Amino acid sequence: MKKLWEGRIDGKKDASVESFNASIGFDKRLYNEDIIGSIAHAKMLSKIGVLTVKEYESIASGLEAIRQDITAGKFTFTEELEDIHTHIETALRERIGDAAGKLHTARSRNDQINVDMRLYLKKYIDEIVRELISLEKTLHSIAAAHTKTVMPGYTHLQPAQPMVLSHLMLAYFFMISRDIGRLNDCAKRLDMLTLGSGAFAGVNYPIERDMVRSDLGFARISENALDSVSDRDFIAEFLAGIAILFTHLSRIAEDFIIFNSNEYRFVELADGYTTGSSIMPNKKNPDMLELTRGKCGRVFGDLISVLTLMKGLPSAYNKDLQEDKEPMFDAIDTALATIPIVRAVLETAAFDKERMRESCDRGYMTAVEIADYLVAKGLPFREAHNIVGRIVRHAVTKKKTFAELTIAEYKSFSDNIGDDIYDAVKPEQSIQRKVSMGSTGEASIKAQLVQAQGLIERFKSDIKSGSY
Ligand code: ARG
Repeated sequence: MKKLWEGRIDGKKDASVESFNASIGFDKRLYNEDIIGSIAHAKMLSKIGVLTVKEYESIASGLEAIRQDITAGKFTFTEELEDIHTHIETALRERIGDAAGKLHTARSRNDQINVDMRLYLKKYIDEIVRELISLEKTLHSIAAAHTKTVMPGYTHLQPAQPMVLSHLMLAYFFMISRDIGRLNDCAKRLDMLTLGSGAFAGVNYPIERDMVRSDLGFARISENALDSVSDRDFIAEFLAGIAILFTHLSRIAEDFIIFNSNEYRFVELADGYTTGSSIMPNKKNPDMLELTRGKCGRVFGDLISVLTLMKGLPSAYNKDLQEDKEPMFDAIDTALATIPIVRAVLETAAFDKERMRESCDRGYMTAVEIADYLVAKGLPFREAHNIVGRIVRHAVTKKKTFAELTIAEYKSFSDNIGDDIYDAVKPEQSIQRKVSMGSTGEASIKAQLVQAQGLIERFKSDIKSGSY
């Protein structure tokens, strides 16, 4: 089969070279975008008189037929034809003859691949954001259902202060909302037509880039042809956004793995999202969450691959850039596979409210409340902190909870303590007293739920209005 560049050098290559050089194994995923881009380019060429209307029509219908063949699985790919661009141009020549040879006027594969990848990524960011919005809805509805569910909060994985389950779900919600924001930003920045750059120096024809821009639905036109052909910032930025998203998914997974463990039993994962052991019949393992945590390895790797690929490149196109595709595809596939799983695991998890509440009685989580109680009686916070520290140490030795200490025991540490201390050490009281904005207190949780709902609506309308 003929290479596009056979005029200059011998097209015959050793099979190992064909295989090493080829990208068709993975860039065939871009066939739709490649064809859409070519039709827009041909249409513009006919407008400026480089192609006749007849030539354009035959090119456009030929490309359309090729698209249908590929979609239907009736198209043969071969490594000899290197990449998706060569396959489509060769197939077009077989279909419509010489007019196919005119399609590549005023175009290079360098600007062609760039525009293909932008079109592709734009579409898939949209899909990923849709999945993230579904996850946000799930987090919101769990949060809304558990505004009164009291549970321990931890720092250093040690019992720290009580909170409501909504507080945790909303924390996840706002983490993911930043991920959506990052992906939307990336989509906005990549929304730029790079086709029309030629190899890097521009082209010798009065091309109408704005017409192509508008046909392909891009917001802007790239300013500099040399920059355009080797700009892969949008891929690195996308991968960075995905990597950060996965740190969040992984942390959510980790929390649930811990809460699902026998020692905690705060949550029970649905059978459908757990697996058993081949040897231990008792096991019910949180594999979906472990895999979510584990997938970070590949998506972080995808980001590092692309950054490393880019860092030493001389200006303009270098074949190294062919290595940008697999990391991008991998991150898209991994995100689209993982987000719905995380959503389903959370949606079907059963929370054990009693167990979480009970756990708040242990761990002296309301120690700060006693300190604030003493502050209200006029003691400086530092002094109060010291007194409560000694109370905790005493209670630990006596193996008693705050509720179990007698008033005489309390008074032996401070005369300022009265009977109302028993109310002050209740987790519910501790939560009720949280009045600051963003806290786990009732009014704040209500406000956070409203804010979160507003964000969901905004994310949905951004997608509907196609704002990127
Ligand atoms: N398969 C190539 C890639 O993915 C397409 C661009 C080829 N351009 C070139 N000058 N060889 O980067």
